[in-house]
Amino acid sequence: MGCNITNMKPLFPRRSSNTNKLDAKIPQHKISGLYDGMAWYYDVWAHFTEKKAQDKAIELSKIEDGLTILDVAVGTGKLFNRILKRNPNGINIGIDISKGMLTKAKSKLSKQPNQNYSLEIGSAFDIKMDNHTVDILFNNYMFDLIPFNQMGSIIDEFFRVLKPGGKLVLVNMTKAERLGAGLYERIYRIYPLLMGGCRGVQQNNLLTEYRFRVITREYVQQMLFPSEVILATKLSE
Ligand SMILES: C[S@@+](CC[C@H](N)C(=O)[O-])C[C@H]1O[C@@H](n2cnc3c(N)ncnc32)[C@H](O)[C@@H]1O
Repeated sequence: MGCNITNMKPLFPRRSSNTNKLDAKIPQHKISGLYDGMAWYYDVWAHFTEKKAQDKAIELSKIEDGLTILDVAVGTGKLFNRILKRNPNGINIGIDISKGMLTKAKSKLSKQPNQNYSLEIGSAFDIKMDNHTVDILFNNYMFDLIPFNQMGSIIDEFFRVLKPGGKLVLVNMTKAERLGAGLYERIYRIYPLLMGGCRGVQQNNLLTEYRFRVITREYVQQMLFPSEVILATKLSE
């Protein structure tokens, strides 16, 4: 039997574009408590800084009704709400480690017509779904609070649950690529809690190392807040 070397996970992965960059300062075990406390105002912050990037994520995902869609780190459900409108007859699952963010999401989504979804406490490190079951996996503004040395295990988990050829739609706070956009990372260096523990990351090279094909990476800036929006597909095992 032949073996396609290009699709195998490397034994000694290349250094990603994140290597030696600013690492996460808030440990994972403190994140759920932090976001429980931020849930009441998160949507206001996101409206002014993250909406443009999420518009782009929805556009790139090209959702067709009837798919299995997983939103990891669903937060207060802003993006999930838009997914539900496009996938009324599919399977829609949102998970997050913060009870406070999920409570906010549940209250928001209870008012919309498509009640065909589930919202559960769950971690990106251990997704309670079978292998090869997800058509599109969304993950927005989560890797920017994950330590570099833990990112690989999450990408492995995304790879496991996605169907071959399945789409990964990733949005992250990223490094400034235009004048003035370094402001938020300067705030993070002084007071990371004020940034919800988020700093700029660049995930396209890491995805390639972990057997994804990056279709596009777009830089989006809103109120000087720098985001990357990545569409990638899972290569075969
Ligand atoms: C900056 S918020 C983004 C929320 C939402 N995705 C959005 O774009 O509005 C980060 C979210 O990631 C969640 N989170 C952090 N680490 C996680 C993990 N390991 N698994 C699942 N959710 C996680 C937090 O609880 C929080 O709700």
